[in-house]
Amino acid sequence: MNLTNATVLITGGSSGIGYGIAEVLIAAGARVAITGRNAEKLKAAAAALGAVPVHADVSQEADVLRTMQEVVAAFGHLDVLVNNAGLGTFSPLIEMDLAGFERTFATNVTGAMLMAREAARHFVGRQAGHIVNIGSTASHRGAPNGTAYYASKFALRGMTECWRAELRTHNIRVMLVNPSEVITGFGAAAGFEQRASDSKLRPSEIAHAVRAILEMDDRGFTTELTVFATNPVG
Ligand SMILES: NC(=O)c1ccc[n+]([C@@H]2O[C@H](COP(=O)([O-])OP(=O)(O)OC[C@H]3O[C@@H](n4cnc5c(N)ncnc54)[C@H](OP(=O)(O)O)[C@@H]3O)[C@@H](O)[C@H]2O)c1
Repeated sequence: MNLTNATVLITGGSSGIGYGIAEVLIAAGARVAITGRNAEKLKAAAAALGAVPVHADVSQEADVLRTMQEVVAAFGHLDVLVNNAGLGTFSPLIEMDLAGFERTFATNVTGAMLMAREAARHFVGRQAGHIVNIGSTASHRGAPNGTAYYASKFALRGMTECWRAELRTHNIRVMLVNPSEVITGFGAAAGFEQRASDSKLRPSEIAHAVRAILEMDDRGFTTELTVFATNPVG
């Protein structure tokens, strides 16, 4: 696709990977809307980026419906959904807190599904569209303390496969990008410290990957792309 004047909605675009994707796609000529729950953070990010802010929580169905309405009102139509909003809760299985488990699924799984459903209704009507789901290397393997987060990313990968199978015949490309560790606010929000190092991934590497898969001619598409740090010492 040609990103010049393309219209893009990035959930969770107010920080981290989503913000990085917004920056790169805007630089490529796209018109971008971003969502987030924290209104002040969202407003500041949108102003810095030159993006349209939509204050919305992807886990709330009414917010998701309003998000699509606001995006279509701002841009006239939508070309690309980047399902990026996500959070993590981490604990051993025997200490699993039900509320934390459900909170993770509400955003990472239910929220992604609701956003994709609304975007897909719009895309099927247009017989065109692109969905990029931000998964994780956690969508491919398990790890201690990972029950809630890893399972949510396995679920997102499973949904990606289903949506791709359903939507391909409508000329809708459904793609999954799996970052390994990226230095963002993710760890702090999940209650752990990410050890920063110059050799670890930054949001810009993931943004570059998203731009690259979108820019491929619509005749083809990358089904899934995993991004590792080359040598993440430290
Ligand atoms: N960082 C990593 O190492 C890493 C690795 C692999 C995959 N990922 C994935 O990358 C995505 C982005 O994470 P990040 O690392 O950039 O984390 P981040 O810096 O914490 O950013 C998360 C963004 O999502 C928003 N958000 C969270 N819950 C939301 C909800 N229910 N509705 C709307 N917005 C919501 C946050 O804003 P508010 O809090 O204001 O809502 C924020 O803008 C996530 O899906 C994550 O699982 C991250």
